[in-house]
Order: sequence, then C-alpha cells, then structure tokens
Amino acid sequence: MSDKTYTMENIGKIPVHVSIIMDGNGRWAGERGLDRSAGHAEGVESVRACTEAAVEYGVKYLSLYAFSEENWGRPQAEVDALMLLMFKSMVEELSNFMENGIRFVVLGHREKLSDELNAVIDDCMRKTSGNDRLTLIVFLSYSGKWDILQAAKRYARDLIEHPDEAESMLGMGIDGFDRYLVTAGIPDPDIIIRTSGEMRLSNYLLWQGAYSELLFTDVLWPDFRKDEFLSALRTYSKRDRRYGKVK
Ligand code: IPE
Ligand code: IPE
Ligand code: MG
Repeated sequence: MSDKTYTMENIGKIPVHVSIIMDGNGRWAGERGLDRSAGHAEGVESVRACTEAAVEYGVKYLSLYAFSEENWGRPQAEVDALMLLMFKSMVEELSNFMENGIRFVVLGHREKLSDELNAVIDDCMRKTSGNDRLTLIVFLSYSGKWDILQAAKRYARDLIEHPDEAESMLGMGIDGFDRYLVTAGIPDPDIIIRTSGEMRLSNYLLWQGAYSELLFTDVLWPDFRKDEFLSALRTYSKRDRRYGKVK
C-alpha cells in the first residue's frame, strides 16, 4: 500500500502508546550476505522513520525493545557493535529530538551498561526532559521478569523501611504496584508490534502488555518504515478492545 493511501483523516483512532519489538535485523543482513551489524545499522533508519511518523500522527509514546537482558548472551562482537550503535545514535539524534519536541527515555537494567553509554543516555534524557510532543522510550537491557522482580524488591524495601505505612502498602492495588515498575508514569502500550514473523513476546512488557493489542508482521525491522507504521496504526483502529467486558 502506498504512503499516500494513509491520511490523518482515514487512519482512524490513534493509539496513545505504540510499542515495537524490533526484530529481524540479522536475517535482513544475512539475506544480503552482510554482517549482522549491517542489519542493526539499517534498523536505526527504521527507528528514525517510525519516530517521524509517530510525531506526525500524534502518537504520544513510542517505545522500542532494542536489547533484551537475554541479548547479553550474544557473541561479544555483536554486543559491542550494538552498544556502539546505541551510543552513536544517541549523540547524533539529540538535535533532532530537540527540534521535534521529543523526550528521550531509556529504561532497563542500566547498571549493566558501560559508564560511557550511561553518561550519554543521562545527557540525552536530561536535555530532552522538557519536550512533550512525543516520548520515545528505548528499552535497553530490559526484560519483563526483571522489571517485575526489581519492582517487588523496591516494594519490599519500602515496606521494611516504613513499617508505619505497612497496612496501607499491603492494601495497595494494581495502580500502586505500577509505580514500582520502570515504566512508572507511562501509560500501558495500546499496541505491541513485533516484526520478522516471530510470534512471541521474548520477555517484553509482561505486566504492562496485559491488555495490549498484538500485531505480528513478517516484515523485517530494517524494512519497517513509515508505510508499515501507518498500516499498523490503521489495523489498530479497527480492533475492538473489550477488556473482558461485553459490549
Ligand atoms: C533484532 O534483530 C535486534 C536485537 C535483538 C538486538 P535480531 O538481531 O534479533 O535479528 P534476527 O532475529 O537474528 O534476524
Ligand atoms: C527480542 O528479539 C529482543 C529484541 C528485539 C530486542 P530476539 O531476537 O532477541 O528474540 P528471540 O531470541 O527470537 O526470542
Ligand atoms: Mg531476533
């Protein structure tokens, strides 16, 4: 479907939070006889394209699964190439974030990242913190089970440190626990898209994705550009979200 098929008028209801499991970079490179890192580099272009489209169509949160806790188990050379790519991309994109009103946020097990990478992340997050057109979240060294565990540990610590508040803390509901997850303050994803034909969550947003619409596409991440993004928005607008109720 051509780009021009989609317009602000015909795309339908725009989700507040779009989340993407960016998968298939290695296969994209393999099909071309290139090194896997070439696929990751090309994937950055897709990030740019989707970010631009999200801003243009008024999506308020775009989150991207860039590196899972399990991805640390990949060959060191690939891990190094990915980390270098993240570093370079953040340095290069800062001016673009400022020009387009993009707040940039990295969520995940930050202690595992290098000091250099953490410094550029902090700088980017601080400088863009006042932007409010789009919040772009990159999940780095993230896993859903890790997130729930770190939340439970922080909750337990609060309980120990504030025994006077124990009763109210134990009576806490879902919203109260939400505040301990790394995504505190960010609305749950309306839709989770996974590229490359894999139909699994690979430990992504296990709690927050409880009622997300799921969309699986065969398109490999480096080929997922504006048209694909808008097509996903269109698909979302046709979904009927019932949240367990009868309509
Ligand atoms: C997604 O592409 C990027 C990361 C997981 C870091 P892959 O590298 O998983 O590509 P495939 O799945 O091997 O094709
Ligand atoms: C999931 O992709 C993680 C990211 C996209 C960052 P993987 O390629 O690591 O997932 P599996 O191994 O196919 O489940
Ligand atoms: Mg993969």
